[in-house]
Amino acid sequence: MPESRPLPSAVLQQEKRRAAAAKPVTIVIFGASGDLTQRKLVPALHTLACENLLPQPFAVLGLARSPLSDEEFRRQLKAGVEANARITPAQCGRWDEFAGRFSYLPIGYDDPASYEILSERLAQLAQELRSHNVLFYLATPPQVYADIVERLGAAGLAQHDEGWRRIVIEKPFGHDLASAQELNRQVHQVFNEDQIYRIDHYLGKETVQNLLVFRFANAIFEPLWNRNYVDAVFITVAESVGVGRRGGYYDQAGVLRDMIQNHVLQLLTLTAMEPPVAFNATALRNEKVKVLEAVREVQPYEVAQMSVRGQYRSRNGGPTYRQEEGVRPNSQTATFAALKLYVDNWRWQGVPFYLRSGKMLRTKISEIVVRFKRVPYLMFPKDYEGIRPPNTLSLCIQPDEGIRLSFNLKVPGAGMRTQTVNMVFDYGTHVGENALPDAYERLLVDALQGDASLFARSDEIELSWRIVDPIQEGWNEGAAPLAFYEPGTWGPREVDEMLARDGLVWATGCTDG
Ligand code: BG6
Repeated sequence: MPESRPLPSAVLQQEKRRAAAAKPVTIVIFGASGDLTQRKLVPALHTLACENLLPQPFAVLGLARSPLSDEEFRRQLKAGVEANARITPAQCGRWDEFAGRFSYLPIGYDDPASYEILSERLAQLAQELRSHNVLFYLATPPQVYADIVERLGAAGLAQHDEGWRRIVIEKPFGHDLASAQELNRQVHQVFNEDQIYRIDHYLGKETVQNLLVFRFANAIFEPLWNRNYVDAVFITVAESVGVGRRGGYYDQAGVLRDMIQNHVLQLLTLTAMEPPVAFNATALRNEKVKVLEAVREVQPYEVAQMSVRGQYRSRNGGPTYRQEEGVRPNSQTATFAALKLYVDNWRWQGVPFYLRSGKMLRTKISEIVVRFKRVPYLMFPKDYEGIRPPNTLSLCIQPDEGIRLSFNLKVPGAGMRTQTVNMVFDYGTHVGENALPDAYERLLVDALQGDASLFARSDEIELSWRIVDPIQEGWNEGAAPLAFYEPGTWGPREVDEMLARDGLVWATGCTDG
């Protein structure tokens, strides 16, 4: 575990002021014995508590089906925090105080009696904290979201005259457009849109937010950020891990629903959006929605040209998706997708956006590479192999956060030979290793503050399903045959073929390939 360093002091001061402005709160986690709670939520809460970034006092009530005592629950959480928190209990030294704020309640998610007990427990906590503010967090399997929301409504827990009530809903929000619309309808029957926080943890990543600052706080890039100068945009969200123990869920979802509909399309919208008129939830999300509206729908006859679907299968004894636990032995589920999309508006008309994401790829990396047009005429003699690549600007999201600009220069010495070099900005060296907050830290604070800017609105979710659905339907009907790829590669060779048809190769900037 690398040594923890504090956030830059100006940021920390600002965050402390935000925390101080928040009123005491009870956080209710549904799905408290699950993976997300152990690996992400409670480690993030622990780090926030250590940095004094949580409202004071606060209480956390964990709910799940398994019968657990408060003590057993706290023991489970400690293991998760030790393994995953940016600031561990040993570094913070306040574990007992932190754990003392947690309690546990076994619950039947659709059992009205459970919600009566929950209601009593919340009333008790409100008295202790002198606050009726409650943040509900749905970290359960999505199948029970509708039940939980309905029961919260029926038990009168979704509103309170003397405090705010908010609900955070994890992805996946629906599994297609129709189910997302239905879920939005069900949730809206109980909560108002401004109480709903649909989480996409990519929006909590520092470097994703930095995309907004990079684009809209610098005058030098924006004039180039359009079809006149940009040739193509490449967005990669690659993972080197497989489906792990989540085979059962993943086999129903696949990469389009698990990664593209949410994380990857969020990156596309932030890259393509117009400048919002203000930095607030409404203005920001209005602009994102306009991009999603402008994304051209892939027609059934285009699915094979505009997409590649892959599945990992090793020929030499390595991991094979169909042999993973919980996966059907003849599964057709895609663990890799590459898409070509167009954004039909004045800024981006004709510029292809290539997106790819997959499991078991060569390395874990998320990046956005903007490839600029070539110079109109190259006067230098071609004394090197091939042609120099055009300039690219790479926004490196993870794991090595930073920005790289590639351009061509003269090789020193006689003649006029050229080389491509990179100008590199590396976040790690700028702010200190391990200082970047985890996405969940940022998003939890925002939800507690009532700032929904980095959460998805109902129309945003539905529009992103509108983009993904025709591709998924095409795949279900056999368009774009399932292509197998060897783990540790960049996916099926059909991706290279898709790009070759456009005279391109996949542009990378944050990795050496
Ligand atoms: C989740 C997906 O939303 O994002 C997982 O369900 C994926 O399948 C994960 O592994 C990737 O997140 P990160 O932050 O590790 O890139």
